[in-house]
Amino acid sequence: MLLLLIVCISLCACSPIQYTAAVVEYAPIAPKLQLYSREDASELMIRNLDNYDKITSEAKTRGAQIILFPEDGLYTPILSSRDFQLPFLERISEPGSNPCTEVQNFDSKISQRVSCMARIHQIILVVNMGEVVYCSKITDSKCPDDGRYQYNTLVAFDMDGSILQKYHKSHLYYERQFDAGDGEPKTFKSWFGVEFGLMICFDIQFQSPSRFILKKGTTDFLFSSWWVNMPPINYAVQNFQGFSYEHNINLLASNSGFTGRNSGSGIFSSGKILTSFYNPTKGPVTTLLISNVTTNPKQDLTSDKLFLENVKRVEHNPPMTSFSAFVPTSNSVHNFIQIAGDFKCEISCVIDRAGDGEVYASFASSGFGLKIFPQNICGVYKCGDDVKSCERILHNLIDVYPTVPRTTFKDISIMLSGDVQNSSVFPIVSGPLGSIYIDDLKTSAEWNKDGTKYHLNVKGREDKPIHAAVLFNVWK
Ligand SMILES: *[C@@H]1O[C@H](CO)[C@@H](O)[C@H](O)[C@H]1NC(C)=O
Ligand SMILES: *[C@@H]1O[C@H](CO)[C@@H](O)[C@H](O)[C@H]1NC(C)=O
Repeated sequence: MLLLLIVCISLCACSPIQYTAAVVEYAPIAPKLQLYSREDASELMIRNLDNYDKITSEAKTRGAQIILFPEDGLYTPILSSRDFQLPFLERISEPGSNPCTEVQNFDSKISQRVSCMARIHQIILVVNMGEVVYCSKITDSKCPDDGRYQYNTLVAFDMDGSILQKYHKSHLYYERQFDAGDGEPKTFKSWFGVEFGLMICFDIQFQSPSRFILKKGTTDFLFSSWWVNMPPINYAVQNFQGFSYEHNINLLASNSGFTGRNSGSGIFSSGKILTSFYNPTKGPVTTLLISNVTTNPKQDLTSDKLFLENVKRVEHNPPMTSFSAFVPTSNSVHNFIQIAGDFKCEISCVIDRAGDGEVYASFASSGFGLKIFPQNICGVYKCGDDVKSCERILHNLIDVYPTVPRTTFKDISIMLSGDVQNSSVFPIVSGPLGSIYIDDLKTSAEWNKDGTKYHLNVKGREDKPIHAAVLFNVWK
């Protein structure tokens, strides 16, 4: 019997582990854009934490072992100045300490509440919090002029309330209230044996920290975000799915439930959606998503995908773009070659049924989208009501009022080549209002054998109009 147990335990160590995870799309109670006292700021954050408590309790009842909350979930991103943000920050002690059971000699109301919540519900609790680290120019030349670092921090608390790990967001998205972290990969091993890497929002589009987390052999990511949806090309869920597909990993993604502008959460396993949610309305919605997740120990850790940081590349800012608008007709074929800088895309669309008067565009863009996104993108998307809107979408990467497509496709093929060898590509396919995902259609997306061409092929369905099909090449 003992022998059997030993055999089983050693077997389990190298076979997949199943765990139950919860992600929360949470609509925070928002502060006003004004200077708060620490007391009032704490009071507002505690009201959000009261909601976290109820949600965590429900998740635990439904079997969750780990729960993740979104970025800025305690105060929203509205406090866009360092001084406005400060009352919402606190010192957060280092991994290993337990804010619930240990007396701290500084104000740690928020850490304490979260730590005790993890302890009461006996769950690993991962929460995005604001952190302040005081510094002095005398000992640290990088210390900001106001004498403090302000970090957008993801903190994981163990079942006993102790801090497992914390991570500082390293790619800020127009966040003047925060300082960027150093991009060091931060991971922790859970009691159920799964190692998790931590990542926040805009980080997903850069090589750090994800590449370094992957290199450590970590295959499960906790990703907290306040995503800005850019329909039709870049919706949250499609992007997260693309990341999970590309890296063959589990991604637990918890996003803001503030409005449909930001919505889109889920749990993704090697590009498959285990559970997901998208709120297309302008109102706030809070949703708890729970799924069993199985680790993928067979992940090919030897494949060291380039994010092209070593490749000399002209950084076009604004990006180089090329596009052609076209009006699909039923059963027609449209072929395009779009070239932007060193980036080339051969695009072919076979239309099934054309939506009356709808305009689509094929495109390629290389450089910094919206000044800050380092990316190569190409593909097809549905424009607004006229040809002019095609260009507007391309330059702003967004259709502010996305129109619902009616055109269905038999086949879409996008072949990417140029200065992109073996680099990281997220394949993204979307339908009306962010519906449709790569696993809804017969989709293949992969590099050819010698790593010189990436091919996305989508077999459309007559009941699934397509809003956009794009390849998103992350190169920095
Ligand atoms: C997870 O799997 C267990 C059995 O392995 C099952 O009892 C439970 O209902 C599943 N939970 C979810 C959320 O699917
Ligand atoms: C791409 O990766 C494959 C497999 O590792 C390798 O054989 C090939 O030489 C690489 N190609 C380029 C252009 O780097």
